[in-house]
Amino acid sequence: MSDTWKTVLNLLASGERLSGSAIGEQLGISRTAVWKHVRQLQEWGIPVRKLRGQGYQMEGGIELLSHDRITSRMSPDATELLRNLHLLDHIDSTNSYAKNLIEAGRGAGQVCLAERQTQGRGRLGRTWVSPFGRNIYLSVTWEFDQGIAVMEGLSLAVGVVVCRAIRELGIQEAGLKWPNDILLGDRKVGGILLEMLGDPVGPCQVVVGIGINFAMPTDAVIDQPWADLGGYATLSRNGLAATVISKLLPLLSTYADLGFTAYRDAWEGFDTHRGESVCLISSGKTISGIARGVSDTGAIRLEVDGEEKYFSGGEISLRRAH
Ligand code: BTN
Repeated sequence: MSDTWKTVLNLLASGERLSGSAIGEQLGISRTAVWKHVRQLQEWGIPVRKLRGQGYQMEGGIELLSHDRITSRMSPDATELLRNLHLLDHIDSTNSYAKNLIEAGRGAGQVCLAERQTQGRGRLGRTWVSPFGRNIYLSVTWEFDQGIAVMEGLSLAVGVVVCRAIRELGIQEAGLKWPNDILLGDRKVGGILLEMLGDPVGPCQVVVGIGINFAMPTDAVIDQPWADLGGYATLSRNGLAATVISKLLPLLSTYADLGFTAYRDAWEGFDTHRGESVCLISSGKTISGIARGVSDTGAIRLEVDGEEKYFSGGEISLRRAH
């Protein structure tokens, strides 16, 4: 695919109104060709409007991912840990892309962000809705020498730093739902998907995948209650990416030593369901109880008939009991 669409998009990104002939002149293409590119952008969910006789406009503009805007806002610690920053226009899934990098021997510190995912993956076999230029789709690679046991609780710890990043940008309502959903109020604003590779008892790697709904189109079809950060007009998408990366890389580089115990109190501080009646759902079975926080390994502590029980595992989901 030629990159002319990207030039068209960049011209419209500021939100300014531009005529088809002005765009065409700049690119040396016909007005019809401009219209074809605009239609392509619209198909990807980019809100470019055709104004009768007055050209095109992208309401509110769009902030494309920028290498400079991300790296210039990253903390010194994270800058040192970053090996490569991969900015992708379209990809099936940033997690798959990152896995390929690991398989090609690229190791830890590969950070991948995409404008759009065509096959974004969520937990429990769900699809992660990933329209162009709207949200954060981020995957980061890391390596551990000691086998997958050191990664116990890692996905919850990642939830803590994502929640901290969102709060640091001024959104104090951000919270967590076990194991690692990021919520605004009762609605999901972000999710985390870890994928592990390598030797379960020796050198192994992890891809940490993070999706954050930044400005989801209002007509998005998502099979669970969702939220985005769109109402917070001062936020920048590149700034949010930089803040998350700045917290995530240092977390990964120290996790083998610190483990989840270093994050447990913070996780419980962000817990949106503590003390509430909840249901755990796993392969069709439901267990009801009262959420009592998490253990040192990231298992949920559930009070069932007066007795505390621990549950962990990737296939469990939690709901508030009605
Ligand atoms: C969840 O279901 O809560 C996890 C969602 C994880 C989505 C992110 S977006 C970036 C990365 N690439 C994927 O395909 N999935 C993760």
